[in-house]
Amino acid sequence: MANLQTTYLKLPLKNPLIVGACPLTGDLDKLKQIEDAGAAAVVLPSLFEEQIQLHGMGLSQFPPREDDNLPPALQHIPQMDEYNRGANGYLAHIYQAKKALSIPVIASINGYYAGGWVQYARLIEAAKADALELNVYYLPTKPTVTSAEVEEMYLKLVRDVKASVSIPVAVKISPFFSALANIVHQFEAAGANGLVLFNRFYQPEIDPETKMVSSALQFSTPAELRLRLRWTGILRSQVKMGLCISGGIHSGRDILKGLMAGADAVMTVSALYQNGLGHIQTMLTELREWLETNDYGSLAEIQASVTRNQAKDTSAFERANYMTVLSSKKE
Ligand SMILES: Cc1cc2nc3c(=O)[nH]c(=O)nc-3n(C[C@H](O)[C@H](O)[C@H](O)COP(=O)(O)O)c2cc1C
Repeated sequence: MANLQTTYLKLPLKNPLIVGACPLTGDLDKLKQIEDAGAAAVVLPSLFEEQIQLHGMGLSQFPPREDDNLPPALQHIPQMDEYNRGANGYLAHIYQAKKALSIPVIASINGYYAGGWVQYARLIEAAKADALELNVYYLPTKPTVTSAEVEEMYLKLVRDVKASVSIPVAVKISPFFSALANIVHQFEAAGANGLVLFNRFYQPEIDPETKMVSSALQFSTPAELRLRLRWTGILRSQVKMGLCISGGIHSGRDILKGLMAGADAVMTVSALYQNGLGHIQTMLTELREWLETNDYGSLAEIQASVTRNQAKDTSAFERANYMTVLSSKKE
C-alpha cells in the first residue's frame, strides 16, 4: 500500500488530508468521526480576536475556577463565562479534543492586530494544542490605510504570537496582496512555520427585488483550487515553511494536484458539508488508488513534482500564460 505520510508544521501526519477550520471540528462527536474516517489532523474553528478580552481585564479580580474540563495548568484561570464564554470554552474544547483524539489538533485564531489578547496564544499552547493557525483577516476600506500599514500590522501579530509560544504557528492568508511572494517571505522571516493558502471570503450578495444585501454562505467548487495551485507552485521553491492548500479540495485527485504543486498537506471543508464525513475516506482511497495505479510507492515521489521550477512549461504559472490561454479560445 502506498505510503501517504507527510510532515506539516513539524507534525508527522499519516496522510496529507486535514479537516480545515469550521463548525464540524467544534463538536467532539464529529471530531471522533473525522478521526475514524482517516483525517490526519484537524483545525478547530477560529476564535475571533474580538472574543478575547484578557488584556486589561484585571484577571485577579475574578475568583479561581475549578473545572475538570481544563488541564491542571489552566485551572487557575478565572471563571470568565459571564464575561467571555467563547474564549474560555475554546480552551476547554482544545483540551477535550486532545484527550479524545490521537491525531494532531491545530487551534485557530482569527485576528489582525497584535494586542494584549496575543497572550491568549500561550493559553492555547497550555491547553495542549499541537499548533496554532492565525487567520489574518482585515478589510481595509479606509482610503487612508496603506498596504504597508496593513502588512506591518499582520507581521507584528505573527512576531508577537511567535514570541509567546513554542508550538508551530501557521498563517492563513488571503490571496489579495499586491506582492504576495514578498509578504510571504516576510511572514517566514517573522517566524511563521507554515502558510495556509488561502482564506476564502464570504462576499455580499444583492437581491435585486428586495434590494437587501445578504451574505449567505456558499461552498467552494474544485475550480477554486487553480489559484492555490498557481501560488503553491510559485512559492514552493522560494520558502522553507510548510505550505498547506485550503480551498477547492474536493477529491483525491485534488489532493494529488495540491501535493504535486508543492503543498505539504491540504485542507478540506466544503466537500465534507456537501458529501458527509465519510467523504474523507473516499478522498484518501482515490489518492491511494491513483498512486498505486501509477506505480508510486509513496507521496514523497510525487510531492513538488509540478512546481514552477519543475513544470515542463514554467510559463503556465506566470503572466506569459495569460495571452496563450486567451488566444486559445478562437470563437
Ligand atoms: C461553515 C464554514 C465555517 C468556517 N469557519 C472558519 C473558521 O472559523 N476559521 C477559518 O480560518 N476558516 C473557516 N472556514 C474556511 C475554511 O476553513 C476553508 O478555508 C474554506 O472553506 C475553503 O476550503 P474548502 O474549499 O475546502 O471549503 C469556514 C468555512 C465554512 C464552510
